[in-house]
Amino acid sequence: MARTKHIKINQVRELPNVFSSKDENLSNRIKDFFSGKEKYTLELGCGHGDYSVELAAMYPSRNFIGIDIKAARIFNGAQRALDQNLNNAAFLISQAENISEIFSKNSIEEIYIAFPDPHVKRKSEPRRLVSNIFLEIYKSILTKNGKVHLKTDNEMIFNYTLKTIQEFGCKVLRSFEDLYSVKDENLTNEIKTKYEQHYLKMGRIIKYICFQF
Ligand SMILES: C[S@@+](CC[C@H](N)C(=O)[O-])C[C@H]1O[C@@H](n2cnc3c(N)ncnc32)[C@H](O)[C@@H]1O
Repeated sequence: MARTKHIKINQVRELPNVFSSKDENLSNRIKDFFSGKEKYTLELGCGHGDYSVELAAMYPSRNFIGIDIKAARIFNGAQRALDQNLNNAAFLISQAENISEIFSKNSIEEIYIAFPDPHVKRKSEPRRLVSNIFLEIYKSILTKNGKVHLKTDNEMIFNYTLKTIQEFGCKVLRSFEDLYSVKDENLTNEIKTKYEQHYLKMGRIIKYICFQF
């Protein structure tokens, strides 16, 4: 393991804006961090937390939480939020599978999923962040008009998501096979995650779906 990565993993829990699914009394600790306001936007599989940090800077009155299993990546996002004095962005080292145990019903305004691992093998389908298992979880914590945003370069995940959400009975609000070929003022196109920047350099087509339950 590279030395800097090792240091980040050891130090991440010392950052005041980082929580872990192993923390005792986690839901209350998160609530306290955000001064008792129990409405959040989640970024799942956040990596370096680009959406959480940039949306927190754009919307100071809203709360953002980036969630990932990789502590070194969380460190980068959390440090960036601290450097920018953003007290409305926090990070959680956790499996996305745990979120319905941490966040209560009607507490999540939006969910961002950018470039999720595709889990191409059929037997790993339940691990896709847009499988039926995850849709049930999202439905249980989103507010009435809460939205889910998915960005991907992966055609299989794009088609799989459309099929899964339609069968689940979700309402598709927007769906673009080539996001950057459309003009839509409601899109937060200016935010480009680490993986997105990498894929754009490779000339990959970025796809986007926004849906609600
Ligand atoms: C391809 S990367 C994308 C990272 C970031 N969203 C971006 O666009 O730059 C996928 C991320 O999802 C995280 N991840 C995968 N499965 C997860 C799960 N079940 N719960 C939380 N994070 C997960 C990985 O650790 C990784 O950081």
